[in-house]
Amino acid sequence: MKDQLEQQFSKLYNKTATNAWFSPGRVNLIGEHIDYNGGLVMPCAITFGTYLLTAPNDDHVFRFRSTNFEETLEIPLQAHYKKDGKGWFNYPLGVIQHLVKAGHVLGGLDMFFYGDIPIGSGLSSSASIEVVTAFALNKLFNAGLSKLDIVKLAKSVENNFIGLNSGIMDQFAVTFGEKNKALMLNCDTLEYEAVNSNLGDHVLAIINTNKPRKLAESKYNERVEECAMALTELQQLLDITNLCDIDTDTFNQYKHLITNETVKNRATHVIEENDRVKLAAKALASNNLAEFGKLMYASHDSLRDLYEVSGKELDTVVEYAKTDKDVAGARMTGAGFGGCAIALVKASAFDDFSAAVTKYYTDKIGYSPSVYNSLIGDGVGPLL
Ligand code: GLA
Repeated sequence: MKDQLEQQFSKLYNKTATNAWFSPGRVNLIGEHIDYNGGLVMPCAITFGTYLLTAPNDDHVFRFRSTNFEETLEIPLQAHYKKDGKGWFNYPLGVIQHLVKAGHVLGGLDMFFYGDIPIGSGLSSSASIEVVTAFALNKLFNAGLSKLDIVKLAKSVENNFIGLNSGIMDQFAVTFGEKNKALMLNCDTLEYEAVNSNLGDHVLAIINTNKPRKLAESKYNERVEECAMALTELQQLLDITNLCDIDTDTFNQYKHLITNETVKNRATHVIEENDRVKLAAKALASNNLAEFGKLMYASHDSLRDLYEVSGKELDTVVEYAKTDKDVAGARMTGAGFGGCAIALVKASAFDDFSAAVTKYYTDKIGYSPSVYNSLIGDGVGPLL
């Protein structure tokens, strides 16, 4: 892979790349729409991701190119950078703006990005490109940032430069991910533990619905606001800073404070989902995959009915999974509104599963999904 990318770099820029980096995408096993509510999530880095090759230039410019997109950008070094339309290069540009604003001195750089994460699939292509850029620039220009600083910077790019009020899970997972491990992350304290993703004789299938995620950003920000409304109402009687500070039992005693039914449903999902993550961690630790799978199905149902971020495409995948005896559990993963589902599938039955879910989905939806047998990989680093 590296050789091929180096050749492409030479072709694009007529010189040799001096450095190469890689940042993965992620899936979240359970704990959805929890991170911005200060609770527990369980993401893993995957082996798909974003590659970045660089070489310095003496022209005092940043050049952004990618073989995934036709658009390119060349911009002189300056004191302030603004988002430029909807182009893909806004993600690395936002990283540059954040570094410059923090007083770091950067130099001219030619950059070539290549990603193999399907775009818009909910596997965090945006966190991946933000983090790979921040990691590379940090090293190249000795900015002295820790890995956690990189996570926070990348999240701020997403929130303040791109405009999505996301939580910290994606940037954290693609930075700190470890091969064959899931991260049990507390999004309030940012403490985490890399736990063995003990899937036994099962593998993690990723099923991309191939549904374009229209309106995802505005709907996502709407959910963030609804959670903030629920929190404000609960704070009338409860001394809490996040929805996930309480468990389901406590919530049941106070939920009458929430006046709007939709907002109450959103909070119910969040608080019950956070409790499910605790149970899921126990199930994983005791190799109880059947229990883990049940919790995945319960998570999906709640995202569909209470949080309303699923859709017929994701539901169709999970509906099929429930009928397949070789599947322990399945759910949508990531923000929702299209994108990907995941399923725990018996390794020996993966090909049959892939064919059967493809047929079921295509018959119902009218176009086919893409099914991957996913590997859990490492977080950001130099490309060796
Ligand atoms: C997106 C966001 C994350 C998280 C998930 C939902 O991936 O970027 O911060 O909120 O949705 O769990």
